[in-house]
Amino acid sequence: MSRKIVAMPGDGIGKIVLPEAIRVLEAAGFNAEYIHADIGWEFWCKQGNALPERTVELLEEHKIGLFGAITSKPKDAAAEELDPALKDKGYVYFSPIVGLRQHFNLDICIRPCQSFKGNPLNFIRRSADGGYEEPLVNAVVFRQNTEGLYAGVEWTNPPKEVRAALETHPKMKKFANIPSEDLAISTRIVSRPACRRIIRSAFEYAKKFGYKSVTVCEKPNVLRETSGMMLNEARNISKDFPDIELWETNIDAQMMWLTKNPETYGVIVSENMFGDIVSDGFAGLVGGLGFACSANIGDEVAVFEPTHGSAPKYAELNPSIVNPIAMILSACMMLDHIGEEEKAAKIRKAIAAVVEEGKVKTYDMMKLRGSAEAIKQGAATTQQMTDAIISNL
Ligand code: NAI
Ligand code: MG
Repeated sequence: MSRKIVAMPGDGIGKIVLPEAIRVLEAAGFNAEYIHADIGWEFWCKQGNALPERTVELLEEHKIGLFGAITSKPKDAAAEELDPALKDKGYVYFSPIVGLRQHFNLDICIRPCQSFKGNPLNFIRRSADGGYEEPLVNAVVFRQNTEGLYAGVEWTNPPKEVRAALETHPKMKKFANIPSEDLAISTRIVSRPACRRIIRSAFEYAKKFGYKSVTVCEKPNVLRETSGMMLNEARNISKDFPDIELWETNIDAQMMWLTKNPETYGVIVSENMFGDIVSDGFAGLVGGLGFACSANIGDEVAVFEPTHGSAPKYAELNPSIVNPIAMILSACMMLDHIGEEEKAAKIRKAIAAVVEEGKVKTYDMMKLRGSAEAIKQGAATTQQMTDAIISNL
């Protein structure tokens, strides 16, 4: 019986890159039935819900999702584009990918940042003798995906009870004279179970894939409670993994070091916002959005997606110019997750071969401006890149 995968292309270039990833999966001999599921802007505008219930049900049933990208807009812009028949009926826009992470508690976010040899976008640095070095980066960021500073517990003009509760803290004294309407508060909440889950997953991944270190990247000298809990739990959990070193860095220093000696780092684990920041930092060293893949993993359901968005500027270009590699690498993460590691390795090897050969490059790899012109300047189309990968399988 073939496996069923919920395919959610979403908006813009999500609709372009997801079918390309499926082409590669099929060429690699992975047999599955892809069940299309609606998600994104169109469903907000027409139905008042960017994450239709039927999509949630499909994921509940089949557990594994491949997701392209969605378009998201601020609250007011969203309200304006809603179908007139639905206006003023209490519909509120929320991001469907955030919705999926919350609904299925996809609390483990994994973002591998691995350079492919020969990628013209790789980080290089000047060496002591005046030449240059191109260290191969192989970092994997584990980002807590549901809590922390992005948990959404925040107020401008906090209600009285909230203000009163905060004022039990001595450090609130300095805000005593600020009127509530001039106070904006975002909370950073870390729960011990979620903290333990992300840290343990990071260590287990390090063990499974042979990384020698796990770095807990926080700021415990300032954020003594939340980062403090991350650090303490990391120290405890590390005792179960005697062969893996625990390194401790501060997020600010980490951002400096990652452009100095990025090849030193293996698995990195952080709270939601710090994980967001550090993973973008590392992704920039290995090719950026055209190469940045990710997994959102919960106890039951897992969704795999490129880090990039719907890039509306490029969605209508025909032929398409965007790089499908981030989406294809996300599909490889899906294969790893469901025990098809060999097929994943085969696809990664084919991507590596295409990049190293350097004949087929999308516009981003040539550092060209993204436009139809890029093709005339020698950039490969999205489909040509996929074809090159498939012919290397
Ligand atoms: P974006 O990631 O869509 O595009 C930013 C720029 O990155 C593009 O203009 C392009 O230059 C480059 N880029 C992105 N994907 C690429 C690819 N596959 N190949 C080559 N170059 C690529 O981010 P932007 O423009 O900030 O947002 C556009 C829309 O996407 C917004 O509505 C935003 O809310 C949404 N978004 C959705 C995400 C998701 O679905 N998870 C994540 C980020 C943004
Ligand atoms: Mg980000």
